[in-house]
Amino acid sequence: MLSVSASGQRTTTEQKKEKFITELMKKMTIEEKVAQLNLITPTAGTGPFKTRRATEKLQDGTAANVLSMRGTPQRIHERAAYAENTRLKIPYLLALDIIHGYKTIFPIPLGLSCTWDTLLIEKTARIAAVEATAMGYHQTYSPMVDISRDPRWGRVMEGSGEDPYLGSLIARAMVKGYQGDDLSDETSLLACVKHFALYGAAEAGRDYNTVDMSRQTMYQYYLPPYKAAIDAGAGSIMTSFNDIEGIPATANRWLLTDLLRDEWGFEGFVVSDYNCVQELIPHGVAANYKEAVRKAIDAGLDMDMASEGYTTFLKELVEEGTVTEKQVDVACRRVLEVKYDLGLFNDPYKNYDPGKAERVTLTKESKDIARSAAAKSMVLLKNENETLPLKTNMKLALIGPLIDDQYEMFSMWSPDGKADSVVTILEGIRQQNYDLVSAEGTFLTDEPGYLRNFGYYDEDEQREKVGQALKLTESADVIVAVLGESRNVSGEAKSMTNISLPRCQRELLKQLKATGKPVVLVLLNGRPLTLTDDLQFADAVLVAWRPGTMAGVALADVLFGKYNPSGKLTMTFPRSVGQIPVYYNHKNTGRPFKDGERGTFKSRYLDEMNSPLFPFGFGLSYTTFNYSEISLSDTLLAGENEKLLVNVELSNTGKYAGEETVQLYLSDAVASIVRPVKELKKFEKVFLQPGETKQVQFLIKPEDLKFYNHDLNWDWESGEFVVYVGTNSRDVKSATFVWTK
Ligand code: BGC
Repeated sequence: MLSVSASGQRTTTEQKKEKFITELMKKMTIEEKVAQLNLITPTAGTGPFKTRRATEKLQDGTAANVLSMRGTPQRIHERAAYAENTRLKIPYLLALDIIHGYKTIFPIPLGLSCTWDTLLIEKTARIAAVEATAMGYHQTYSPMVDISRDPRWGRVMEGSGEDPYLGSLIARAMVKGYQGDDLSDETSLLACVKHFALYGAAEAGRDYNTVDMSRQTMYQYYLPPYKAAIDAGAGSIMTSFNDIEGIPATANRWLLTDLLRDEWGFEGFVVSDYNCVQELIPHGVAANYKEAVRKAIDAGLDMDMASEGYTTFLKELVEEGTVTEKQVDVACRRVLEVKYDLGLFNDPYKNYDPGKAERVTLTKESKDIARSAAAKSMVLLKNENETLPLKTNMKLALIGPLIDDQYEMFSMWSPDGKADSVVTILEGIRQQNYDLVSAEGTFLTDEPGYLRNFGYYDEDEQREKVGQALKLTESADVIVAVLGESRNVSGEAKSMTNISLPRCQRELLKQLKATGKPVVLVLLNGRPLTLTDDLQFADAVLVAWRPGTMAGVALADVLFGKYNPSGKLTMTFPRSVGQIPVYYNHKNTGRPFKDGERGTFKSRYLDEMNSPLFPFGFGLSYTTFNYSEISLSDTLLAGENEKLLVNVELSNTGKYAGEETVQLYLSDAVASIVRPVKELKKFEKVFLQPGETKQVQFLIKPEDLKFYNHDLNWDWESGEFVVYVGTNSRDVKSATFVWTK
């Protein structure tokens, strides 16, 4: 990327790069320039079109970038080397969706975000980069930083939940992890921030659906994580499928040029999402393919993924004079600059070492991090009568369709993970406790699709399977029921209107509880679920998400107390689908309502509470933490230079050592616009031994009071503020201060 020295001069490296690219571009024909903007895929992708004759196109140089090319390092190298047959031998860019690990699979991003541990998340991205670059890949389509408040949307599993502050920290950490300090390093993987923008706000949680949002909501809540990733140096960004203020992202000049380039100063390249250029036609903003191409390049789209519109029409548009060659040059230069930054012009195969992938993949260190990340991502929602942790000499009935399934520990976005390296739940638990009632567990069905109960429901089969399960529980001390969703119901194009456990599972759970034995419900899920009616049938509930390679050991670590759970939800769990969108940082209304109050003409439901089942930030531990009242260094502050210290004392009042994520929220009592009831501003992870107490201190500056006002200026206003500190966004202590300008 462009760096500027202290004196404001472009550095010599930048000058060298500019000169190199200028010289190179002088030699390039329009076809060769357009090839740099063409991204093809040899395999079936996520849209209707598939590149035909991909190999030929790489051989003849009509495409200079390729996504989802898989195989051995030798095979990948061989195809990258086709660039050498082209006239100017410009290296190809090889991209892949590496979303939560490459071969070593970490928990899904939503799970990872529940660790609130940005260093750990950065490490997971680093490991993914090391493994993927050793195969020959240069770019990953990650991080996905779309804020979402709607668990019906299947892609919430790929993001970091609903909060812009935490989402921004995670976005930054992932970019750092992938790209390292220097893109030209052989283990640096180019990050691609996606999906720009607002993709997570699809109406009704239906994938690819319309988005409609005020600029204020965009700036305040949805845009910060993209901006954070860009500020962290991400070299590429992907457009989203949706429209923004009526113009699809891929043709949206305000988004791709005014905001991204002029306001934010982004200098990398913009790639469309899969087939988005062609989709301008069904969107109804382009009458034909050629017009779609013109609109995309006019908006500022540099690279066309999978639609092949650029390669088909750009030259013609330039010849007609509807698009200038300068526009093509600008886009081409951006792509070449990133290739230069990656060091590909020095050595297009900088990572090529056929044996390396084997050596750096699934190492002990990576697996240890995967194990720790999985354990830390798990969120304990309920733990009555200290059901957990389990004692190692207990007899367990381990029940559920996926308990011995390797592949199901992954997600839709881990097709490259090595399933045979996965430690299944059964295996992981066996390693820690041999006293299992069931060697194989019981299977409701072998068919994972049945997990979701899409209409198919065989009562006889259900009765038989439940019967088997109940038999297994007879001599058990405790039942561990592993239920939830299969991997193929969350991810892209996996929207659901019903996000509760399927009927067959709910019945099973009920009957397990009826045995009178303690029931631990472990959930495998890619989204928040509505568990309102099921909670009563479990003594303990642990959300395990999709835990990845080390699923079984990590789960055993948590169940048997080797790791005391510390995960905190980053997305609200609703009571029912009818409450959605339900999120913690909602705005004040003129008719606020608190559950349990009386009142008719209030902002409320007649048949449901307003509060969610589990709020943002929620997560229990095997130990208990006590928060003191908040003490403030001052309650009356004035001017930009003052600082406020917020102190609380945190004590571990339980039996186990454990980690707590202390969360600080702020609210602005009166402002010129309606403000949210609460916003996360800081957090700190604190580890305490039983009986130990620590002081936790947060520093608040006027910067923390700022928001986007009606004119979209980032500023703060004098007045009263409330600071909240607590264990989640609901259970907090509060204190008030006044800060004047
Ligand atoms: C997804 C992107 C992904 C791309 C390439 C699209 O359908 O929306 O997130 O990076 O496919 O696989």
